[in-house]
Amino acid sequence: MIEDIKKVVEEKLREHPKRYQHVLGVYETAIKLALIHHADEHKAAIAALFHDYAKYDSIEDQIQHLELKVIKHYADAPVMYHAFAAAYALETMFQIRDQEILNAIRYHVFGRKDMGLIEKIIFVADYCEPSRNFSDVTYIYDLATKDMDQAVLYCMKLTLDDVIKKDKTPHEDQVAAYNYYLEVNSGKIK
Ligand SMILES: [Fe+2]
Ligand SMILES: [Fe+2]
Repeated sequence: MIEDIKKVVEEKLREHPKRYQHVLGVYETAIKLALIHHADEHKAAIAALFHDYAKYDSIEDQIQHLELKVIKHYADAPVMYHAFAAAYALETMFQIRDQEILNAIRYHVFGRKDMGLIEKIIFVADYCEPSRNFSDVTYIYDLATKDMDQAVLYCMKLTLDDVIKKDKTPHEDQVAAYNYYLEVNSGKIK
């Protein structure tokens, strides 16, 4: 199964070798984090391999099979569509209905409140895989090996800072997720 999925993703991203490198980086990082945190490495591997499957599809293709409420909810954050489209593609191409895998793919962009462990692993691995070229990569990975919730919060803050720096308004889900993990890390939410 994993090898079949890998082949399909490699073919899909043939014209985007850097993206495929990134996917392999997320794959390896996610498996390591799954092993450290006693999560299902098989689920982490599948979600990692498929998370950016629809990245270069047109917006029309990305939204084609999405529910209207999803399309509307993310109208101001169309970057979310590639994530939902990838989850749909995995479900239909490989008959995978495991919600931990599908949600990890769906919510890998902003994260969300109250994520499961596989979701957190994919969200964080997307930031700290080795081919990412910003200075915080090693710091985030080390943090993730020790405390996944702190790593999640750190990555959410990076994205929020970036949005604010670009003078854009963050999506409401992004803000809600960040506030949630602020509370988790301050001990208000267990
Ligand atoms: Fe993505
Ligand atoms: Fe990614």
